[in-house]
Amino acid sequence: MMKTVRNDFPILNTQINGRPLTYLDGAATSQKPWPVLDAVQQYYLTENANVHRGVYTLSEVATKSYEGAREKVQNFLHAPSSRNIIFTRSTTESLNWLAQAYGPTVVGQGDEILLTYLEHHSNIVPWQVLAQRVGATLKYVKLTADGQIDLADFAQQLSPKTKIVSFAHVSNVLGTEAPVKEMARLAHQVGATVVVDGAQAVAHLPVDVLDLDVDFYAFSGHKMLAPTGIGVLYGKEVLLEQMPPAQYGGEMIEEVGLQSSTYQELPWRFEAGTPNIAGAVGLGAAIDYLEHLGMAAIAAKESDLMKTAIAELSTIPGLEIYGPVDPADRHGVLSFNISGVHPHDVATILDQAGVEVRAGHHCAQPLMRYLGQAATVRASFSFYNNQEDIVRLVQALKTVKEYFPND
Ligand SMILES: Cc1ncc(COP(=O)(O)O)c(C=O)c1O
Repeated sequence: MMKTVRNDFPILNTQINGRPLTYLDGAATSQKPWPVLDAVQQYYLTENANVHRGVYTLSEVATKSYEGAREKVQNFLHAPSSRNIIFTRSTTESLNWLAQAYGPTVVGQGDEILLTYLEHHSNIVPWQVLAQRVGATLKYVKLTADGQIDLADFAQQLSPKTKIVSFAHVSNVLGTEAPVKEMARLAHQVGATVVVDGAQAVAHLPVDVLDLDVDFYAFSGHKMLAPTGIGVLYGKEVLLEQMPPAQYGGEMIEEVGLQSSTYQELPWRFEAGTPNIAGAVGLGAAIDYLEHLGMAAIAAKESDLMKTAIAELSTIPGLEIYGPVDPADRHGVLSFNISGVHPHDVATILDQAGVEVRAGHHCAQPLMRYLGQAATVRASFSFYNNQEDIVRLVQALKTVKEYFPND
């Protein structure tokens, strides 16, 4: 199955700058396979209607597809009920809703919110705004020399003042995986709520929210083969019950009076307005596709690619890899710099060869400062990449060295 997987991704047969597309930016957004593209098209061709409001057949069909997608997400995360699954626009929206709506119910003046130095801006800025609003303090857990979360520092920084702990399951710059279960256990000992940013994990690893025992888990569909504009917020039921809605309007109400209203039960209370129905359908199809391949097979293939990439890139003089060099310690992403060459120049030269990588601060400026770098080049691998993609990456990086021979 894995051998023929590339045929499912039509964009991989296209060309960039006259060269075959070598897409190594799945961490920014994944490419989409036919079954996802077909599901979205089929939805619009045969099922399109608004959900939850019509008593007519087509609306019931659309509602069934939308709610069916919610059940697929539930199973994918091993959540106890579809009541735990809220559809949002993205990881960013899920985290903002938490910070805006749930945050003030548990964080007050003098309290602390604990993050780590490797967070994406989406998991920093919403908490900054909450901290400013309620008079709380943000603290950051240090990293070990090879870019892992320093568990000892984490344990030391936890205290009864810590009300929320929020961290990435997998880093979008270093690819390191947080010891989520252990961190949740330690955070719960001081009574903190555990929020996990799963944006870079869901496409690469099996996720079991019950086993991890996290309180909230946020991710985006577009990084796991689904369309843009659909995201998920998983929450434990007892916590969702105490969380006020982040948005108000149609669909989320039970009864509207002139001065006040009552709200729907979970999860619809959080989904004000017409949702992204086609996006949810696409996400359901993406989950079917990933489960058909098997997350274990996906992880094994990506680990092979990572192994070759680290081995090959390590032979290029002046190239420094950030984070662990043991392929077992990283998922999906490989950040590096070539001494004396700006990462944007590297990415521009690679682009001429059809090799699409990201260069910049990767929405993680505190981490960049921590690493002492203004920016890095980031190549990210998905199961639909192959060894040939790595050969092209390495060839293109050798061209960079030809352009900048003295560095
Ligand atoms: C770790 C991490 N968190 C959050 C996000 C934000 O995701 P989105 O832009 O889909 O909301 C990203 C996206 O790059 C990410 O890598």
